[in-house]
Amino acid sequence: MKLIIAENYDEMSRAGAKIMLEVVKNNPYAVLGLATGTTPLGLYAHMIADHEKHGTSYAHIRTVNLDEYKGLPKTHEQSYVYFMRKNLFDGLDIDPENTNIENGMAENETKECARYDELLERLPRDIQLLGLGSNGHIAFNEPGTPFGSGTHVVTLAESTVKDNARLFDDISEVPRKAFTMGIRQIMQAKKILILASGANKAEAVCKMVKGKVTESVPASVLQLHPDCTLIVDRAAAANL
Ligand code: GLP
Repeated sequence: MKLIIAENYDEMSRAGAKIMLEVVKNNPYAVLGLATGTTPLGLYAHMIADHEKHGTSYAHIRTVNLDEYKGLPKTHEQSYVYFMRKNLFDGLDIDPENTNIENGMAENETKECARYDELLERLPRDIQLLGLGSNGHIAFNEPGTPFGSGTHVVTLAESTVKDNARLFDDISEVPRKAFTMGIRQIMQAKKILILASGANKAEAVCKMVKGKVTESVPASVLQLHPDCTLIVDRAAAANL
């Protein structure tokens, strides 16, 4: 795993955007694996700024997102489909038809997971962007998820519900379940870019980089990926 320690959040976002933009500029037909959460917001802002300033086009770019809450409609501000539109897609010339995410409102979970598995087979990712849960999760693959997993529905860890409650009016509104891409599929991306910022990620960062590769720390699997770059700010690097 290649490690870059940035001074702060903005430097981390800038360095991350540089890697993402390299992929887009080298291949206008690239498939980008995208993430939600607070962490990638700065990187997305840099992508939009670059599109406005340099005209980098996303007309033929396709995207696949990691995960989606179960039971939140597309219009809910905390649904990941809404997040992506608001924080990235609306600022680019991307065709909404070329963007993909699990349907959190799907009535048949098994069918929806099979649809997404098939879609991921058809769209091998040139790069997969990841954030890191404070408990070491990637996407919504919580501790204990088998490394061989495909798309599945997960019951969120209590710590994840608490972490994400800050974005909802009340913790009771945080969905307890979500669809997530599996660890096997994350590992299939040609290149992985993972970002982590802030002191509350320091322990998970340390376990991911220096700890044993174990299903109890899902992100530790990234030690096995041939082309994975981790960019952290100083606070998240504190235990390294
Ligand atoms: C969330 C998401 C992850 C994200 C992580 C960290 O629950 N499902 O994809 O990477 O937790 O979130 P944040 O970036 O807000 O700290």
